[in-house]
Formats: sequence, structure tokens, C-alpha cells
Amino acid sequence: MVLKNKLRGEDFLTLAPLTGEEMESLLEEAVRLKSEGTKGYKPLAGKVVGLIFEKPSTRTRVSFEVAVHRLGGSALALTDRDLQLGRGETIEDTGRVLAMYLDGLVVRTFGQDRLESLAQASSVPVINALTDESHPCQALADMMTMLEYKGAFRGLRLAYLGDGNNVAHSLMRAGTKLGMDVVVATPEGHGPLETITSECKGYADASGGSLLVGNDPAQASSGVDVIYTDVWVSMGQPDEKRDALGHFASFQVNEEMLDRASDDVMVMHCLPAHRGEEITGDVLDGSHSAVWDQAENRLHAQVALLGLIFG
Ligand code: CP
Ligand code: NVA
Repeated sequence: MVLKNKLRGEDFLTLAPLTGEEMESLLEEAVRLKSEGTKGYKPLAGKVVGLIFEKPSTRTRVSFEVAVHRLGGSALALTDRDLQLGRGETIEDTGRVLAMYLDGLVVRTFGQDRLESLAQASSVPVINALTDESHPCQALADMMTMLEYKGAFRGLRLAYLGDGNNVAHSLMRAGTKLGMDVVVATPEGHGPLETITSECKGYADASGGSLLVGNDPAQASSGVDVIYTDVWVSMGQPDEKRDALGHFASFQVNEEMLDRASDDVMVMHCLPAHRGEEITGDVLDGSHSAVWDQAENRLHAQVALLGLIFG
């Protein structure tokens, strides 16, 4: 399999290096492994993967830990408080040393540059478990869930509403590579990075999809097949952002927002959710919500990813 040759032994820091076709193969592998299970498939046998988390996590840490076990390996979860990293040892020195003991590193940190420095210094594959800039493993599970619900990507209309940071960036990359029509609506000053927007416009041009970035939630959600949101205050963002949340009010995913979308709109959220802020409890728990399948698929998408990197 060509994708296997491309990913084996490599870092997975963003979705940028994957083509749309490669992403689709990965997602099909994830769907297959979800239905057939991993019995007898042990690409991580005898291997130990370190999970380094400088920010909290429920889904990513636990689903990676379980995915490593399912594939026959052992996982070692470490927070910055467990490491000299928390006392000022550099990320490069940490990566260099840990790579001598471990076969791979799954890392949640702050800047993308910090992740890249660690990957540069480490001789084993490094997987991005979220940075301030991107969350590619989340986007794999998101796309897998859309595939299960909608059957295909081309022409699917997706609106992302809220804060345009890590989750939005990875969703933009994945959606535009897969030929979707992606609209991102955020309050002014909270939009996605211009560099990533222009990168994704290039992917959309090549795939036949489209990307629009703006500030009008009603227009963005009109007639769409998928509505996606994320927390308004991300980990690592200043607490003062809470004082300005009024700007986000019209971006809340609620029944009124769903009324503007297509009749069978699917609602997505990476979780954790703040009911009553970016999404109402009724919508999160309602009949259009795909969030629990989406959360489950973190595990299956990562089983597929780890299998390709360590297979
Ligand atoms: N969606 C997600 O990454 O959740 P955690 O922060 O719980 O890992
Ligand atoms: N944007 C959120 C995503 C959490 C999974 C954050 O970075 O906190």
C-alpha cells in the first residue's frame, strides 16, 4: 500500500503532507478496522509509545493509550509535571533523550514550532496530539464520522462556526483536500491564520472544493450539510478572552441555527463542550448530533494511523 510506505516511520505533525486520496485511504482503513476489529493485528508488539501532554486531555490521551494497547504495544503517559520539562529542560533535550527509550511519541503542546523542534530532535516518529495551531488527529476522526454519516465528501457543505484556531485549521485542511465546500465564520479578530487560509484555498482549487472565510454565522450556516463548532476559549488562551465572549453570542449552535441548515444537517463538536456557550445542550444531545460517534472515532482513526506509522 503506497500510503503505508509514505507514513511508515514518519512524523505526523499536520495534515499538509497527505493528499486527499491518501486521507481517504486512511479513513477507509479506519472504517474497516472499526468494523473488523484488530484481532491478530499487532504492529506495535514489543514497542512502547510515550504520550507527552503539556495540556489536559480526556479523549486524545485515553484513546491513544487504548489504541496502542489494541495494536499490541505499551503506552506511557507523561504530563509536563512528571518530566524535567516542567522545570525548564528544553523540549529538544527531552525529545532527544526519550527517543532513546521509546519507539514513538504522541505530543500535546503549545506552539506548532515547539512540536516541530521536538520532532527534529527526536529520532522516532512524533504524532501531533494538538497544538495551538492544529489538531490533525481530531480532523481524521471528524472526516471518518462524515464518511459514515454522509457516504462521500465531494460537494458536502460544511460550516465551522466560532473560534478559528487549531480545530478549525485542521478541519479546513481536511475538508478542502477532500473536495468539500467549507465555510468558516468567526467574530472579527478570531479568524483562522491567513497563511493556513491561503494554503487551504490552494487545496480547494486542486480538489474542486471551495473555502470561504468570513464573519456572518447566518449566511455561513444557510443550507449546509454539516455544522461544526468548538469551545470559545481554548487551552492556553488568556483568561481575559472570557470577558469578550459577547462577540461570540451570534455564533452559538442552537435550534435557530439548525433551522437555516439542510434538513438532515449533522452537528459536530470536537469536545469538550460548554453547553450554553458555543452550543446548546438541546442541540448537543439532539437528533442531529454526531458528537458521540465523532468522539468514539478518535480511537478508530488513531488505530489506523498508528498501524500505518508503525506497521
Ligand atoms: N477533542 C479532544 O482533543 O479532546 P481532549 O482535549 O479531551 O483530548
Ligand atoms: N480548541 C480547543 C480544542 C480542544 C480539543 C482547545 O485547544 O482547547
